[in-house]
Amino acid sequence: MDSGLYNEEKRYFSTGKLVDYKRNENNLILEYSRTKIALEFIKKGIVRVLKEKDEKLDFSSTYAVLDGNLDYNHYQILDKKEKLIVRTENLDIKISKDSFSLAFYEKNGELIHKDAKEAIKWNKDEIWAKKITNDKENFYGLGEKTGFLNKKGKKYTMWNTDVFEAHIESTDPLYISIPFYLATDRDKSYGIYFDNSYKSFFDFRVNENGEYSFGAQGGKLDYYFIKGTKVKDVIRKYTKITGRMNLPPKWSLGYHQSRYSYGSTEEVKELANKFRENDIPCDVIHLDIHYMDDYRVFTWDENNFPKPEKLMNDLKEDGFKVVNIIDPGVKKDPDYEVYKEGMKNDHFCRYLDGELFTGDVWPEESVFPDFTSKKVRKWWAGLHKDLLDSGVKGIWNDMNEPAVFNDTYTMDLEVMHENDGDPYLHKRFHNQYALLEAMGTYQGIKKYKEERPFVLSRAGFSGIQRYAATWTGDNRSIWDHLKLAVPMLMNMGISGLSFSGTDIGGFTGDSNGELLTRWTQLGTFMPFFRNHSSLYTKSQEPWAFAEKYEKIIKKFIELRYKFMPHIYNLFYKTSQKGIPVMRPLFMEFPDEQKAYEISYQFMVGDSILAAPVYEPKKDKKLIYLPEGNWVNYFSDKNYEGKQYIVEDTPLATMPLYIKNGSILVMGEKINYIGEKERNYLEIVNYLDENIPKNSYTLYEDDGISYNYQEGKYNLKKFSYKKSKEKIEFDINYKENNYKTDYNKYLIRLKNINFKPDKITFKGNKVKDWEYKLKENELTLKIKAEEGNIVIM
Ligand code: GLC
Repeated sequence: MDSGLYNEEKRYFSTGKLVDYKRNENNLILEYSRTKIALEFIKKGIVRVLKEKDEKLDFSSTYAVLDGNLDYNHYQILDKKEKLIVRTENLDIKISKDSFSLAFYEKNGELIHKDAKEAIKWNKDEIWAKKITNDKENFYGLGEKTGFLNKKGKKYTMWNTDVFEAHIESTDPLYISIPFYLATDRDKSYGIYFDNSYKSFFDFRVNENGEYSFGAQGGKLDYYFIKGTKVKDVIRKYTKITGRMNLPPKWSLGYHQSRYSYGSTEEVKELANKFRENDIPCDVIHLDIHYMDDYRVFTWDENNFPKPEKLMNDLKEDGFKVVNIIDPGVKKDPDYEVYKEGMKNDHFCRYLDGELFTGDVWPEESVFPDFTSKKVRKWWAGLHKDLLDSGVKGIWNDMNEPAVFNDTYTMDLEVMHENDGDPYLHKRFHNQYALLEAMGTYQGIKKYKEERPFVLSRAGFSGIQRYAATWTGDNRSIWDHLKLAVPMLMNMGISGLSFSGTDIGGFTGDSNGELLTRWTQLGTFMPFFRNHSSLYTKSQEPWAFAEKYEKIIKKFIELRYKFMPHIYNLFYKTSQKGIPVMRPLFMEFPDEQKAYEISYQFMVGDSILAAPVYEPKKDKKLIYLPEGNWVNYFSDKNYEGKQYIVEDTPLATMPLYIKNGSILVMGEKINYIGEKERNYLEIVNYLDENIPKNSYTLYEDDGISYNYQEGKYNLKKFSYKKSKEKIEFDINYKENNYKTDYNKYLIRLKNINFKPDKITFKGNKVKDWEYKLKENELTLKIKAEEGNIVIM
């Protein structure tokens, strides 16, 4: 069977020799004897490589790419005997005249990356880019893929797929396609974003000549070379091209409880009450497909949910937000409004010859909106009005690969999409279907809610981060799946999908107390924190197993809320620069070789290291701590870094370390976001003898509205500076246009090795302080104001 991959045995075209070239404002057109290639200069350090198709250079992009990126034309061309050299401000590109191939250099002449000798190959069905790597270089990214963090030596396919029998390590492809990878050899890094939404392949099984390839079964060869000295730089630029997540509503960073399905008003209320009775924080309840009338989207089952508005209202009073599932399949039922309206206005996908495409999903025979058309997205957005008016807060887009219960698990490839006047077959739009659905959903919530939308999507393509959080679909309640989650989510973060998570406890199969406890511990530090399970499986709410498990689970969910100011701050940073919340170790410790292969530990921002336990009955664990001094968050035990340690891992704790020298901002125990006015904000300084100063900038706003876009937010800089005699702690407001609910700062200094004689704030004596000799810790309370604290 044809693997679909590049195959030396097949015949391909190659470019031939350079015949001519032409410089335009932002691009350089290279005319080779058999094809034309354009280099388009997008921004400093971003070059697009585009090969003509059907004898035309088509500069259009997929829906992943944001408009308005083009603003760069500072380049010169030097015409040498065998090469053209393009000089930009921070890159030199050598273009071979003999047969097309590129080599990218730093200005100091160091090679960053080069193509294979014949770099572009194609035939009527396929196009390929062939590249060269070296022994030191590793590959990361590619979005939602299983396996180790480092993708070198593996091959992957991009084709959004509903994986029927929950995925395992060798399963590929999955639900989401992100044709972006990051290559780094420690000294230098680059990224490649392949803007092609056909079925595509990344083959990192490097051959004896150091070659690897990527390509697609259709469309254009159209990729972006992204230079970055640092890994973060590459991600920042990639998310400049495909967009960043918007600031989410703060409640969506809280704990979510879901099940397929909570089936009635009573069941949902009972669930909500149980959370409050058991004093376990929870912000969100998800309603799966059984809330609908026989799986008809945008309806309610009138027997089981007779008064949705009242239910939403009651839940709201208790602090809950409700997220409802919406699938793209619309039941083919002539008496059903959504179907009737869609038919009347021709909103559903048809075959080339005009015949309506139907396929079976939950409601059985269904039709599928053609989201490639603006008017259909607008219509779809409008359909959300009633749900949102009734009080639903967020929308969960499932089955949007799109999944169809047939032999190919999806739509026939002969189905056509209108695409606003540029129609084409499903094979071009398949991977973009969920992205376009999310676009419509997002627009709908934005229009009717005037609050920041929360959309959760199962499938996606590059750019989905602009509209939706994602989760990794149907996993299983097995230990392997808890383990798998860690590298998977880190690679999603590298690929722009910062707001992601896995079904905590596992979706199919029965969970158990220990597994759920360990999974919740990981979940506390996963960007998206949702417990979800399938029909006919054992319940897995926090209290579903013995009390001893419930206690620990509760403690960890509470911890998520304690860390909330910091987590929200990290999400703010993602929205600004694209840098993920959950990060691989090499992102923060790029000089450490080991960090590039660590798949099962991760960083939360730059100062917290988490090493979740993913095996049963595990009471000790080997953990690698990178450079620096670290303190175990729970035991307060200090460790030197750059070594492996053996940590005790009783079920009640999870290995969690704070890097000494950092500052963390924490909140109080709450049951949900916005529950009550807080008394104080806690600022913890983890002092380190080798780090004389550090700072932390905290972002704050109301967490729900768009007022921050009018400047209603705070940026508060907290810094310490220490010498032998004293420590100064400075609070400096860079922006202060949002009134917070707390009025005190609780400041803690850990590892302070003297008992202060005197503490002043803005020159006045501070009275409210306490020093604990044994713990080496000073705690003080002051009014929440700008100013300088001196501790002597
Ligand atoms: C799919 C989803 C799952 C959901 C179920 C029923 O399997 O992945 O999360 O619960 O459909 O809607």
